[in-house]
Amino acid sequence: MDALHNFLLNKKGKTAYLTVNRPEKLNAINIATIKELSEILQELKSDKQIRGIIITGSGTKAFVAGADIAEFTALDQKEAQQLAETGHHKVMDEIYNFPKPVIAAINGFALGGGLELAMACHLRVASENAKMGLPEVSLGLIPGYGGTQRLPQLVGRAKALEMIMTGEMIDAPSALQWRLVNYVVPQDTLITKCEDLLEKIYTRSQNAIENAINVINKGLEHPEEGYQAEIEAFARAFNTDDFKEGVSAFLEKRKPNF
Ligand code: COA
Repeated sequence: MDALHNFLLNKKGKTAYLTVNRPEKLNAINIATIKELSEILQELKSDKQIRGIIITGSGTKAFVAGADIAEFTALDQKEAQQLAETGHHKVMDEIYNFPKPVIAAINGFALGGGLELAMACHLRVASENAKMGLPEVSLGLIPGYGGTQRLPQLVGRAKALEMIMTGEMIDAPSALQWRLVNYVVPQDTLITKCEDLLEKIYTRSQNAIENAINVINKGLEHPEEGYQAEIEAFARAFNTDDFKEGVSAFLEKRKPNF
């Protein structure tokens, strides 16, 4: 992978810490950022040492304040379509279907593409100062990185329509109440909370977690296929070493060693 320009990437133990690093633009994601993120995700997917990812924004003010609005002015319809397709397929869908848990540590503004990035992650932990919204209608746009689809999944149709039509930001307690985020914590414990969640997940079967992500997503995106996918993945698990170890450990009254 080439040198990174828009991210900081640190690997510690089983966790990759990925920080969007454009603080002077409140970490707004431009085209170069999307391209870089797509390359980083491919690298982390094949890195066997890495079992989970925490994504956050540089500084204490913003997670990601949206797609880079300054770049929009130069785009025509075809280029806008290309931008959205690349963002969807190479980044947001990749994260949504990532075989290892990805947690968004929302450390401030998560707006537009920033909230869409957070919503593509498997879990979201927000700091108390975080503010979230999809303000695209105030620019004459609609969300273009999955927001119209993932927000209703998380908060239901009515709250999603309210957020998207008003374009207003909500604060962290409201986001928790609306189930947009899993937890709200003080900013100085944000990463620790994400690490605690990952440490718990790392004690479980990696193979089973990958299958669970897969089947949950399948059911949300193709409801008619979800149950069958679960039956097949459940059955396939009986052929795995993790299954043998998990069941033996339970019967032998010890912790499993996956
Ligand atoms: N795209 C490009 N630049 C952005 C940006 C974005 N989405 N969000 C913030 N920035 C830039 C600002 O232009 C400013 O740059 P400058 O110093 O070169 O002028 C810098 O980041 C700091 O932002 P500023 O607006 O001065 O901070 P603030 O504290 O007054 O306001 C926000 C913070 C988040 C409320 C405000 O920046 C904002 O509304 N951003 C746009 C959010 C948005 O609509 N996102 C959806 C895009 S689809």
